[in-house]
Amino acid sequence: MIICQCMNITDDDIHAAIDWMRASDADTIISPGKIYHALGKAADCGGCMPLFLDTMRANDNLKVPNLAGNAGEAPSLKVRKGQGS
Ligand code: FES
Repeated sequence: MIICQCMNITDDDIHAAIDWMRASDADTIISPGKIYHALGKAADCGGCMPLFLDTMRANDNLKVPNLAGNAGEAPSLKVRKGQGS
């Protein structure tokens, strides 16, 4: 299905780009801009962004694996002696 009509990007293109980026770097943050870049294209009108983002969210490889397991948990802060108040 065509997601971005300006650049002729399909849902399969988006999923392939996400899967490739995740396989290449497990810790990378994947953004729409990175997907456009990976596909050798750039966004034009931006009208596809809501559907583009929905398509991205449907991919299980979108989240960074190390952070995906901690979803909903607040990061803990460690304060060294002599720092803070
Ligand atoms: S439809 Fe995707 S940039 Fe225009």
